[in-house]
Amino acid sequence: MGETATGPLIIGEEYFEDPHSVHARLREESAATRIVLPRGLRVWLVTRYEEARFVLADPRFAKDHARTNELAARHWTGEGDPVMFDQSLVRHMLNTDPPNHTRLRKLVTKAFTPKRVEALRPRIQEITDELLDAAGQGEVDLVEALAFPLPITVICELLNVPMDQRDDFRRWSNILVAGNQPELMHEAGAAMAGFLAGLVADKRADPGDDFFSALVHATEDDDRLDEVELISMAFLLLVAGHETTVNLIANGVFNLLRHPDQLEKLRADRSLLPGAIEEFLRYEGPVNQATFRFTTEDVQVGDVLIPEGHFVLVSLVAANRDGSRFPDADTFDITRPAGGHLAFGHGVHYCLGAPLARLEGEIAVGSLLDRFDIGLAAEPDTLRWRESTLMRGLYSLPVSLSDRGAH
Ligand code: HEM
Repeated sequence: MGETATGPLIIGEEYFEDPHSVHARLREESAATRIVLPRGLRVWLVTRYEEARFVLADPRFAKDHARTNELAARHWTGEGDPVMFDQSLVRHMLNTDPPNHTRLRKLVTKAFTPKRVEALRPRIQEITDELLDAAGQGEVDLVEALAFPLPITVICELLNVPMDQRDDFRRWSNILVAGNQPELMHEAGAAMAGFLAGLVADKRADPGDDFFSALVHATEDDDRLDEVELISMAFLLLVAGHETTVNLIANGVFNLLRHPDQLEKLRADRSLLPGAIEEFLRYEGPVNQATFRFTTEDVQVGDVLIPEGHFVLVSLVAANRDGSRFPDADTFDITRPAGGHLAFGHGVHYCLGAPLARLEGEIAVGSLLDRFDIGLAAEPDTLRWRESTLMRGLYSLPVSLSDRGAH
């Protein structure tokens, strides 16, 4: 049980092209399956909705970066050693449990409440309009023109990070998040850590009125972050802030274009937009397998007993296609009640940026539809998905745009 007939499932290229049919098979077979990740780490993968929620909320599925390193060595079947993240990037809230998690998260929650985020609406609209002006007409890669630059600009402005090294930052971030180019990981990690250490130093010398400067300058009386915690916090916010929302926008528009009836419905009734964003998140969410957790004791997950000290990954994409929770789960329907999806996770690590991501998604897609008639400019099967178990996203999305004003 929990293993395919031929032994652990090895995740490879075909998985990235179509994870949904692999998930459908695994969901059918058992609550958790042993898999081997592309570079050789053995983990358990959870694909059913109920069990996904259970694992995400139960403290026996723990996070602790020090233990993660030790366990990675134990469960490694690949060549050489598992490549670890640069140690100055890992001491952030998504790598730790309460009480330390509670302390770190408390320091930044205020900056991301729905009210604070709503205040960003005019600026997000302005950035979107500028990007759409620049996109022009004709054939355009929507990832480059809108889906990537919008969220990265917003998060850089929020943290008051200069934009001149944006391309370097994107390259390091892509390498670290995909994790499939071990030979580049050390260099990318060190470069990223160096860049962020410089950012912290700049904010010490010349604070702005952004909340990251406030964190750097917290006094001894307030809760104070040490240098590595500051660097790790900046890393998490910048990476989480831009690796994900790009996929919400691009995957969402891609699925709208593949389902013209749904696109027409949305054009005809724009009050459907918030619900459509939820369906984008459910049907093809930006995060596939949530971040690493490990068992602190033997734990029963549905029909499978997962031993102590094993890694467990939850596929949010798979859970959101579980037909026992979402009827006709493989049907893309922007009018369905998609609430309760797990695209933002669940439990204490539930996404801090969810209100910001939803707002960016609504403004981006709404503005795109307002301004343009839009069609896919490539056969859907020719588009390439990133070879990442963490992210579900397209490398590029070629579309044709024609100004609606011209009609
Ligand atoms: C559509 C876009 C987004 C999606 C789908 C998404 C998804 C997620 C998920 C699934 C988690 C939990 C991971 C786990 O438990 O393993 C998470 C955590 C987190 N997200 Fe997002 N995210 C998005 C956008 C953002 C944005 C814009 C920010 C902005 C700062 C952000 C910041 C964070 C942070 C800080 C955490 C860690 C929370 C904690 O550990 O308590 N996310 N996100």
